[in-house]
Amino acid sequence: MQNDLLSNLLEALKFSPNNIPLRLQVASLMDEKGDYINSEDQYLEVLRQEPTNDLVKTRLANCYYNLAKYSASSIILEDLLENDTNNTELLELECQNQLKLENFEIAKEYYLKIIDIDENYIKEELDQEFRISKKHEENLAQIESDKAHFLSKPKINFYDIGGMDNVKDEISLKIIKPLEHQDLYKAYGKKIGGGILLYGPPGCGKTFIAKATAGEINANFINVSINDILDMWIGNSEKNLHEIFELARRSTPCVMFIDEIDALGASRTSTSNNQTNSINQFLAELDGINSDNEGILVVGATNMLWNIDPAFKRPGRFDRIIFVSPPDLKARESIFKIMLNEKPTEKIDFTKIAKSSEGFSGADLSAAIDIAIENKLKASFKDGVVKPLKTKDIINAIKKVAPSTKEWFNTAKNYATYSNESGIYNDILDYLKK
Ligand SMILES: Nc1ncnc2c1ncn2[C@@H]1O[C@H](COP(=O)(O)OP(=O)(O)OP(=O)(O)O)[C@@H](O)[C@H]1O
Ligand SMILES: [Mg+2]
Repeated sequence: MQNDLLSNLLEALKFSPNNIPLRLQVASLMDEKGDYINSEDQYLEVLRQEPTNDLVKTRLANCYYNLAKYSASSIILEDLLENDTNNTELLELECQNQLKLENFEIAKEYYLKIIDIDENYIKEELDQEFRISKKHEENLAQIESDKAHFLSKPKINFYDIGGMDNVKDEISLKIIKPLEHQDLYKAYGKKIGGGILLYGPPGCGKTFIAKATAGEINANFINVSINDILDMWIGNSEKNLHEIFELARRSTPCVMFIDEIDALGASRTSTSNNQTNSINQFLAELDGINSDNEGILVVGATNMLWNIDPAFKRPGRFDRIIFVSPPDLKARESIFKIMLNEKPTEKIDFTKIAKSSEGFSGADLSAAIDIAIENKLKASFKDGVVKPLKTKDIINAIKKVAPSTKEWFNTAKNYATYSNESGIYNDILDYLKK
């Protein structure tokens, strides 16, 4: 039927080629059939005869849109919109053009304008597009706030750390000295930054000293664990790793503390493809292959050095591997002094309490102090009088805490005894001999 009608009209048009209403009816029928290739010709012919017919221009713009000639369509619409700024039909078509041209922001402006004019405006494709995009923006905001969550400016410094002299020396050599003597380092062409890997039993100050390092040099501190990174935006671990390193590069000088390095570790051959990608990405970021890591001290930490991929230990990566042991007698003394500083105490026999806490980690010492303080608080509630801590209170509290590092040493001893290639676990063996 329609076809008959169309061919009849086309026939009629041959006899009266200047009959514009007739030609437009032909074009409409073609549009209806989706035959935009032919309707384009009809509109162009009308415009040749009536160059200022805006209605026809609108229909030609629509025709171009359907022929995927988005730029051509847009040029016509821009022209029409100049005189008819609030025409939602034009705005909508232009919005769709801009989306196709991937000018998302411009398209969004048109969309917002339409909604502004007509608050009941509904057009499912566009609504969805921009609602989804709103979500996308929320995601971006979330990513930014996640990043902010990892970044801080620590107030503690090396004075807050008891013992750990070897770690302090190593960090000093690797980051503090270089920052103090930048010119010297530059003169020798030596880069500032690099990686240190801390390993040892839990609670012995790995996180604490990394944080204090940042405080010591007034640098930013980025604290992430590999498991955080793997979880952050699931399925996106390579991107996550990159984002975190980029955050570090923007925040120099900074100490980037990466906990649970072993989560990436387990020998590359034995892990899934996904993980291999993450490891390779991590190594690339660490090497700063496409970027500059100058001014970033990467401090990695793990309880399980034996799960670390050997590739991590190459020069330029974690080239210093440091055992963070439980504090020795002297270190325990100084940790107690730091922890009891500014607390109400009588004269404390620090040597005595240090001797009674053999095998304790820093965290265990802190737990003992907590218990002693809680007990004192309870006693003080009775009469409201502050009762200073005594040596005996602390000794009693120490008895309530079991040193938490034993289990770790049981495992570590096996590795140190049976797979101590290149003497990597010598520090553990030395510690166990003491
Ligand atoms: N050398 C130290 N001087 C002062 N405080 C310490 C020291 N070592 C540990 N602490 C205290 O113990 C707490 C736990 O230490 P930290 O979190 O750094 O341990 P960790 O080695 O990172 O443990 P994990 O392997 O479980 O992450 C610290 O917050 C701090 O209060
Ligand atoms: Mg830690």
